[in-house]
Order: sequence, then C-alpha cells, then structure tokens
Amino acid sequence: MVKICCIGAGYVGGPTMAMIAYKCPDIQVVVVDISVPRINAWNSDRLPIFEPGLDEVVKSCRNTNLFFSSDVESHIADSDIIFVSVNTPTKTRGLGAGKAADLTYWESAARMIADVAKSDKIVVEKSTVPVKTAEAIEKILNHNSRDGVNFQILSNPEFLAEGTAIDDLADPDRVLIGGRQTPEGQKAVAALKGVYAKWVPEDRIITTNLWSAELSKLAANAILAQRISSINAMSALCEATGANVSEVAYAVGKDTRIGPKFLSASVGFGGSCFQKDILNLVYICECNGLTEVANYWRQVVQINDYQKLRFVNRVVSSMFNTVSGKKILVLGFAFKKDTGDTRETPAIDVCLGLLGDKAKLSIYDPQVSEDQIRRDLTTSKFDWDHPQHLVPSSPTAKSKEMVTVTWDAYEAAKGAHGICIMTEWDEFKSLDYQRIYDGMEKPAFVFDGRNAVNPDELRKIGFIVYSIGKPLDAWMKDLPAAPLT
Ligand code: UDX
Ligand code: UDX
Ligand code: ADP
Repeated sequence: MVKICCIGAGYVGGPTMAMIAYKCPDIQVVVVDISVPRINAWNSDRLPIFEPGLDEVVKSCRNTNLFFSSDVESHIADSDIIFVSVNTPTKTRGLGAGKAADLTYWESAARMIADVAKSDKIVVEKSTVPVKTAEAIEKILNHNSRDGVNFQILSNPEFLAEGTAIDDLADPDRVLIGGRQTPEGQKAVAALKGVYAKWVPEDRIITTNLWSAELSKLAANAILAQRISSINAMSALCEATGANVSEVAYAVGKDTRIGPKFLSASVGFGGSCFQKDILNLVYICECNGLTEVANYWRQVVQINDYQKLRFVNRVVSSMFNTVSGKKILVLGFAFKKDTGDTRETPAIDVCLGLLGDKAKLSIYDPQVSEDQIRRDLTTSKFDWDHPQHLVPSSPTAKSKEMVTVTWDAYEAAKGAHGICIMTEWDEFKSLDYQRIYDGMEKPAFVFDGRNAVNPDELRKIGFIVYSIGKPLDAWMKDLPAAPLT
C-alpha cells in the first residue's frame, strides 16, 4: 500500500488529501500539522474550515484510509510521497519585505524531512512558492539527508478555489505536475500521475518541467486577478459614463477568445492568494531586472486598492460627506461566499476606511466569528510600499464600541443609516428588505459591493442604491466626486 503524508492541514492540504483518500481507497493518507488544535478539529465533528461538501468526504474515509495527526515526524518517516502544503505568507521583514514569499515554514518542513527520512521520498510542492524554490529545497534535502537516501522533488500546484474546493478537486480543469527531466525525475512524475489518474482523465493531467509548473501557478493567479482588476477599472468608467458593467461584461465575455468567467465587478478581490502571488511575481521580476514587467503586474494590485478606496469614498460622499456617528450595517465579511475565510478580504479595508471616518459598524457574516472579525480589524496591516514598518490599523478600530458583531441582520439594521454588502452570500438576496428599510433612518442607503441584490427592487422600497459599475441614482450623480486620498 502506498502511503502519502501531507505536511500542513490548512485550506489546501486538508481538502486535497481528503479527496485523494476518498478517490483512492488503496492509498493511506495522513495529514500532519504542528498545530494540535487544528488537528483536533479535523478529528472532530466541527472541521476547522467551512467548505461545502467537505464534511461528507472527510466522514466517509476518516480513520479508514484518511488520518489527521500531530505526530509529524513518524508519519513523514514511513511515507513514500510527502506533500508540503504549509503557509507561504508575504515576508514582512528584511530582504524583499512586502513582496517576496516567506519560505520559513517550507524550509523547516524540508529540514525535518531530511532529518527523519530513512528511505527514498518523493517530495511534492503543493503550496504556491516562488519559481526556483524546488532548487533550494532540493539543496536542503540533499545536503542534510542520510547516506543512500534519495529525494525527488515535484511541483504540483493546487488550483482549487475556496467555496468550491470539493467540486474543483473532484473534477479539476487540469492537474499540473512538474519534475526534473531525468529518468528518476520522470519516474517520480509517473508515480504521482498514477495517483491522480484514479479519477482524473489522463488528458487533463499535464506534465512539465519543474519551473514551468511553479511559474504556471503564479501566472494563473496573476491573470485571473488581472481580469477582475480589468473589469473593476471598467466599472469606474461605467459609473462615470452611464454604461452598465454587467452589460459590458456580458457582451465582452461572449467573445469566445475572452470567455464569460471572472468578469464580475466587485469591491475588489480578496483571499490568501491573488495579492500575495502577484507581489511575489513582482518581486521575482525585479530580481531578474525586469522592471517594466514588475510594474505591469503591480498595477493589478493597485487597481484593487483603488477599487476599495473608491467604494469607501462613495459611501461617505453619498451620506453628506460624513459617516461620523452613523450606524452602518455591514453584510458579509468573508472574502467571498461559501467560506469563513477572511484573509485579505476587501471588507477589512472598507470597514477600516469607514471607521476612519468615525462610523459605527454592525457586522454580520453567517460564517465568520466575532473573534476573527475583531482580530482582522485590529491587526496591523503591512504596507508593501513602505516595507520598513507595519502600519497600525485605524485607531478607531481598536475602540470596541464602534464595532458590533451580530447574528441577526434585522436587529442590526435597526437605526442604521446605510447597508454595505461586502460578500455575495445567497441569503442576502432573500432578506426582507422592506422590513429592514422600515427599521432604518431615512434616507436609507444600500451600497452593494458585489452586485448581489436587485437595485430596482430596492429603489421601489425607497432605498438610495449604489451598485458597482451600474448607472448611478440621481442622488449620487449630482454629488462632486470625492477626492481619492
Ligand atoms: C482585432 C480583434 O480581434 C477584432 O475582434 C476586432 O474587430 C478588430 O481588431 P485584428 O486586429 O484583425 O482583429 O486581428 P487579431 O487576430 O485580433 O490580431 C491582432 C494582433 O494581435 C495581430 O498582430 C496578432 O498577430 C496579435 N496576436 C493575436 C498575438 O500576438 N497573440 C495572440 O494570441 C493573438
Ligand atoms: C484563487 C484561484 O481561483 C484558485 O485557482 C487558486 O488556487 C487560489 O486563488 P480563491 O482565492 O479561493 O482562489 O477564490 P476566487 O474564486 O479566485 O476569488 C478570489 C477573489 O476574487 C474573491 O474575493 C472573489 O470575490 C473575487 N472575484 C472573483 C471577483 O471580484 N470577481 C470575479 O469575477 C471573480
Ligand atoms: P493554505 O491556505 O495554503 O492551505 P494554511 O495557513 O491554511 O495555508 O495552512 C498551512 C498549515 O501548515 C497550517 O495549519 C500550519 O500550522 C501548518 N504548518 C506550517 N509549518 C509546518 C510544519 N513545519 N510542520 C507541520 N505543519 C506546518
């Protein structure tokens, strides 16, 4: 029986290994993590991450051929294939701070593998890493290994998106495996291909050299994020001209060369990958002397920041240029629907912007805990333009009384002046907006950062509505554009 071990039981490692175990009953899969609470949660009835369909997959094979353990070393020692799926955040200090990937966790995982391995291993890069990381990892493994132990390193980046992880894993567009072009390297590629081939059609399993696989992951995320920044840039122009961004996106996306997906204008993209991976790409370009290429990709992140700022300014300018002391209901905090993940969620910057103008926030998200929201609003933000220091979050965010976290949207709407929709949760579409309107101060505003609700229906109730990239209400058209500072 082949034994697979995965280091890192996070958003990528957990669901990916659960799917391998589910599809390959003859493979034993162990997911290990240094975080004991995380492992305990994976072994409990309440998994540490919310992901539609994940519970069923985990329950069907846990303790049969899928195990979660904090005994990292012993499981690494007796596995044939080791996936490394540890976190690779952006560096906050030192060389490349604010852009380069922090490979501390990766390096310590590699050193541990070298330390405990007594037999040959295939080591698989699963977490997104800078191009040429495999080379560094190979050096660490080979310089620290016991005599006679050989390592083959593969790059097998994960393309799943949160909220749809189980479908993405069960029916992936493609699986990508990069390896050394040597006979041993190709043997390792074939071994990993054999695992995926149990459920993925062969023509969707792409094999490449190591560097192509590593770069393809960064390139895919950069190009996806670029589409969102492109349509978000158009949304600003739509608001200025009276065009409707949904109509524009539909018309543009009908061109099969462009395609319809990933053209939804929004308050901005979030999530653990897009910004981090683009900044990482920018850094790699700079290191290779490719300044123009670095600037090109950096602009994708700058448009994303601009979009969040534009949204805050729209809220403030519509409400008579001040939200000081006004209650605002924030619907949704996660970076997208169907996840409880808040990493890089645009809601953080929007909330901090409103708190900076002394608004009182009442925040509701069906999957994000109060603790998490408070942590996100008080943790210092890294300023990648000025990497020497961490910028303290808005001081008002620290004052507890300015933020309430609620589990009842109707209660929270009472006495509110405005509503900001930050996440496109399905349940926000079917709220009783008449009931909400009745309890609010007038004029009552809705600022929809996700084009999640029908503006015309809300206008009929009496709301003044702003939807990203849609023709503006007369109310807003007559206002001078707020300066973008
Ligand atoms: C373009 C648009 O495709 C068309 O829809 C519009 O109506 C007019 O402008 P055209 O300029 O005739 O059409 O040709 P197109 O096939 O788009 O190519 C434009 C240029 O891009 C060419 O120089 C082509 O060689 C180049 N190109 C195209 C690339 O370099 N790479 C590609 O992948 C595609
Ligand atoms: C992304 C990639 O899609 C995935 O392939 C990669 O492995 C990890 O990064 P994820 O961050 O989980 O996945 O979610 P994704 O669906 O890509 O959304 C990212 C952000 O973009 C979200 O904040 C989402 O709301 C936003 N988005 C997405 C838009 O604003 N408009 C769109 O049209 C699509
Ligand atoms: P991702 O979204 O990429 O899956 P996460 O942060 O959700 O990232 O998960 C990474 C996991 O890796 C965390 O649970 C962390 O505790 C774990 N981890 C980091 N370093 C090590 C290590 N050396 N050994 C075991 N687990 C590790």
